[in-house]
Amino acid sequence: MAAEAHASATSLPEMPPLTRREFLNYAWLASLGFVFLVGFGGATYFFAFPRFKTGEFGGLFPLGKAGDALPGPNDPPKHDTAGKFWLANVNGMILALYDVCVHLGCLYEWQPVSGRFECPCHGSKYTKEGKYIEGPAPRSLDRMVITFAGANNQAIAATDAKGDPLPIPADPNAQIVIDTGKIIQGESHG
Ligand code: FES
Repeated sequence: MAAEAHASATSLPEMPPLTRREFLNYAWLASLGFVFLVGFGGATYFFAFPRFKTGEFGGLFPLGKAGDALPGPNDPPKHDTAGKFWLANVNGMILALYDVCVHLGCLYEWQPVSGRFECPCHGSKYTKEGKYIEGPAPRSLDRMVITFAGANNQAIAATDAKGDPLPIPADPNAQIVIDTGKIIQGESHG
């Protein structure tokens, strides 16, 4: 008798059946959770695995030792066709300029006679540093992020958020890497 009474006291109360409205609410919450999980999982995947391979435009371009890879202060800028950038040494500071004209996307060229970049399409001109001189371009040339790494691949210097020219490290063995996926817009002259 006592055992029966105890069992009935501890048994769970019977749940009333779900109404249609409650069922729809639960289904809606479950679908929201599913959408969140898919979105979160997708974002995690996207950030965990780089989209571009090393040496592919959009990814990293390791150029080797600074002492070998960089042009000197009196050298013309060096073009990297695969990476779509020009490496320019301006008074011992280095820049990686995105090789697409900021007017309508033509490929500009270095002109040794005038000592500046000139676009063949509509005549925009830029200094060796990528600064706007004249023409229909709305701003100076865009820049990519450069990183110098020392021993153990530790970054020792990197382009700042404004894309200012980066001082070249004294160590000629410092490794230089261009991140072609990080493009900093040139300054508007308007
Ligand atoms: S695309 Fe270069 S000036 Fe127009």
